[in-house]
Amino acid sequence: PSVSLWGGRFAGGPSPELQALSQSTHFDWRLAAYDIAGSRAHARVLHSAGLLDEAELAGMLDALDRLEQDVAAGDFLPQLADEDVHTALERGLMERAGDALGGKLRAGRSRNDQIATQVRLYLREHARRIAVDLLTVVDELITQAEAAGDAVMPGRTHLQHAQPVLLAHHLLAHAWPLLRDVDRLVDWDVRAARSPYGSGALAGSSLGLDPAAVAADLGFDGPVENSIDGTASRDVVAEFAFVAAMIGVDLSRISEEIILWNTKEFGFVRLDDAWSTGSSIMPQKKNPDIAELARGKSGRLVGDLTGLMTTLKGLPLAYNRDLQEDKEPVFDQVDTLTVLLPAFAGMIRTLTFDTARMAELAPQGFALATDVAEWLVRQGVPFRVAHEVAGACVRVCEERGIELWDLTDDDLARISGHLTPQVREVLTVEGSVGSRDGVGGTAPARVAEQLDAAKERSTEY
Ligand code: ARG
Repeated sequence: PSVSLWGGRFAGGPSPELQALSQSTHFDWRLAAYDIAGSRAHARVLHSAGLLDEAELAGMLDALDRLEQDVAAGDFLPQLADEDVHTALERGLMERAGDALGGKLRAGRSRNDQIATQVRLYLREHARRIAVDLLTVVDELITQAEAAGDAVMPGRTHLQHAQPVLLAHHLLAHAWPLLRDVDRLVDWDVRAARSPYGSGALAGSSLGLDPAAVAADLGFDGPVENSIDGTASRDVVAEFAFVAAMIGVDLSRISEEIILWNTKEFGFVRLDDAWSTGSSIMPQKKNPDIAELARGKSGRLVGDLTGLMTTLKGLPLAYNRDLQEDKEPVFDQVDTLTVLLPAFAGMIRTLTFDTARMAELAPQGFALATDVAEWLVRQGVPFRVAHEVAGACVRVCEERGIELWDLTDDDLARISGHLTPQVREVLTVEGSVGSRDGVGGTAPARVAEQLDAAKERSTEY
């Protein structure tokens, strides 16, 4: 017969339908190692409280070691009747330690404080790995920015040509948000580093067990301040889910640009063969699948966050079984980022930019019109007037199908008495980008400083 966790009050076992609905081992089995780590820590506080003698503690730890090895080797697996990972592992412990000893471990703990603790252990470990993978993506962006030197490109707003910028500036604009995502993971860990273990079902334990000792044993900074909060709240899980979703959105934004840049029309970038795919029918095709999958998977990362928030909304204190639904969304996020980030890093590392094409397009679409207006301002012309005059230049050019630098001295004089031939000094991309030399601006000297700053930030971790 299977080991039920609540036999005493019940006449029989659960219906098969309930069992099928209730079961979670198909997804929470990945928490097995954390469950066993928690059991070891729990055995030690039971011993400290005088509830396990020396020999019992040794026997318990030995059984847990053997159970851990069997789980790792795949020799111990959950059965249909095991509701969740905790139930299965208690069965495994009883089989190894015997009923008399094995049955003592559950004193003073509940699956409610166990699961709340284990999710945190799992997420803390995986958040570190995700941060490392993310920093690799950041490093690839920084390396590409460095290689780009003073290469220019059309900067866009509303996807229209706006002002020329340095390619390095643009690439770093993608690196900074990812660095902030790493910051978010690090900062999140401060809140994740409190252990709910010892909260019991909700009210704490009457057995004199020390939650601080378990917390320290499991690598937490300390126990939660409130046992009800500790077992019922999932804001820490939801916050992780937000950061994972934000990472997805940030990668999706880069992806959309790579997809556009890789088209015939843009022709800004070439993808490496090993990091792109072909078509089963069209021999000429080379598709940006990594970028498209990143864009697509950002949808599921956001969906995971949304699903979790919706589950949490309106739950009363304390533990409710709804909370079992907290795990699959974040497990899916971890799995998604685990495959996505390394592929993404490889795609960025192997991009080749057509900087000649980018430079050719950089000034087009009247992208230097703002430079004309700002040149006029430097001559003492009020900006409202300057904006009008530069706009008039664009209108004339558009009518004649020419660019701003094609306007003759006569054209300029006819448009406005303020426009002297000297204005041509700013009608080059180099002049334009060089003039935007405030902190954070696109002037080469500023971008070089920014590059150093980004490098320094990325090596701080
Ligand atoms: N498997 C549950 C979860 O994932 C933990 C078990 C709590 N069950 C209960 N009846 N109190 O949240």
